[in-house]
Amino acid sequence: MANYDVIVIGSGPGGYVCAIRCAQLGLKTAVVEGRDTLGGTCLNVGCIPSKALLHASHMLHEAEHNFAAMGLKGKAPSVDWKQMQSYKSDTIETNTKGIEFLFKKNKIDWLKGWGSIPAAGQVKVGDEVHSSKNIIIASGSVPSALPGIEVDQKIVVDSTGALELPKIPKKLVVIGAGVIGLELGSVYARLGAEVEVVEFLDVITPGMDAEVQRTFQKLLTKQGISFTLGAAVQGVEVKGNKAKVTYKSRKDDSETTIDADTVLVATGRKPFTDGLGLEALGVEMSDRGQIKTNANYATNVAGIYAIGDAIEGPMLAHKAEDEGMAVAEGLAGQHPHVNYNVIPGVIYTHPEVASVGETEESLKEQGRSYKAGKFSFMGNGRAKANFAADGFVKILADAQTDRILGAHIIGPMAGDLLHEICVAMEFGAAAEDLARTCHAHPTYSEAVREAALACGDGAIHA
Ligand code: FAD
Ligand code: NAI
Repeated sequence: MANYDVIVIGSGPGGYVCAIRCAQLGLKTAVVEGRDTLGGTCLNVGCIPSKALLHASHMLHEAEHNFAAMGLKGKAPSVDWKQMQSYKSDTIETNTKGIEFLFKKNKIDWLKGWGSIPAAGQVKVGDEVHSSKNIIIASGSVPSALPGIEVDQKIVVDSTGALELPKIPKKLVVIGAGVIGLELGSVYARLGAEVEVVEFLDVITPGMDAEVQRTFQKLLTKQGISFTLGAAVQGVEVKGNKAKVTYKSRKDDSETTIDADTVLVATGRKPFTDGLGLEALGVEMSDRGQIKTNANYATNVAGIYAIGDAIEGPMLAHKAEDEGMAVAEGLAGQHPHVNYNVIPGVIYTHPEVASVGETEESLKEQGRSYKAGKFSFMGNGRAKANFAADGFVKILADAQTDRILGAHIIGPMAGDLLHEICVAMEFGAAAEDLARTCHAHPTYSEAVREAALACGDGAIHA
């Protein structure tokens, strides 16, 4: 039993960042984590392992498709799946151990076990009850089930199972053309699986800029991934070590059944708050199972706060981190602010897809007049040299003020390129501010500048 200023429940990107910030600001802090390792979904079964597999499989793709053209001849590498898995596990371990190190460095106690809140100001872990002035729930999210489909993590898997398949399937059917489906679908397609994605809507990656959606689908199709859109999955039947996926066309109600060795269900995630005791405490929840909070991340129960995937907003690691820092700074008497208009979203396929702010569609809906400056990576020397000239940068700026309202990039290192636009947006910059900033040559970043130039008098290399 100990007394704390802050107990954080959950050590994902929301929880661990929050705890570090609390400790830095002089608050006596503990984190409750039920997993064997720190880092939450992101480090253990999300961002980090998926990026390791995306990296390894991209390297294979480069070797198979581009090495010979660059004069790098010889036997193409073959896949040692066991070794790739241990590379992935090592990557997870160095990251989760890194958080453990940061906890020690910042004198944060790790209370090992699953926590519950018997009353405001108390957190129970195992048989011990700890007291704390403030409790921050950062309990994250889990895959949401699809009615009638049982995930057995062998033949029918969710993202966690898909990260550790015993072997590369011959035929992988992915249900859902969202971020998880396309990232993990890409991994297995590059490793030799036949990948078919079945999506309920008529577009992939719903909510994204429509031109990016179309280009993205075209490029993934070129890489061998096939798409069935407008298809409502009815069920998955497992027989032996095979599965049959049945879907109904939303256009004409016709039913189709496809065979698969593995089925990845990637139809979204839902907040995880089981076992915390929130109902008994009277913590208000939304009908989507999210913990309701105010602008300071406070719930309706005094002294209890919530952040990250467990509350509303995009389920992204960096959104959770920003909220973690903000709630800590608020508790220390500061006046933090998270700008929800400038939260980047990145899909780490190849090419990458990155977006921030408004889309053309959302601006049209608002009736707001805007200009779109677009530049193709075909006009970027570095991208051409690196066989990475597919895609474009699009910057959306207010028609009158030239203020940047959004940006959408599909192309090499899109996730990294986006950030200069995010910074510009934070500063309320105009497209001309980016256009007048000298960009080093030859870099992919020049494509961002060219898109900004295209919002004005025109790009140079278009
Ligand atoms: P989580 O990371 O979910 O952490 C919550 C932690 O709380 C867990 O460790 C859980 O064990 C613990 N916990 C819960 N309840 C209790 C309790 N009662 N007691 C003790 N411990 C508890 N986002 C990105 O931004 N970029 C990406 O590239 C990306 N890739 C992803 C890939 C995959 C395959 C998946 C599944 C997700 C990915 N995400 C990505 C999403 C990202 O992982 C989440 O948005 C992020 O982890 C949310 O952080 P969080 O701190 O809110 O919760
Ligand atoms: P998602 O919400 O991105 O995509 C789910 C897709 O499944 C949607 O396109 C939806 O229309 C479709 N769908 C839903 N029901 C269906 C049905 N019955 N049949 C066919 N299709 C159906 O969810 P996903 O991919 O599971 O990811 C969950 C969360 O994890 C996302 O919110 C994302 O933010 C986060 N994540 C982020 C990553 C990143 O930032 N790079 C990577 C992976 C996950």
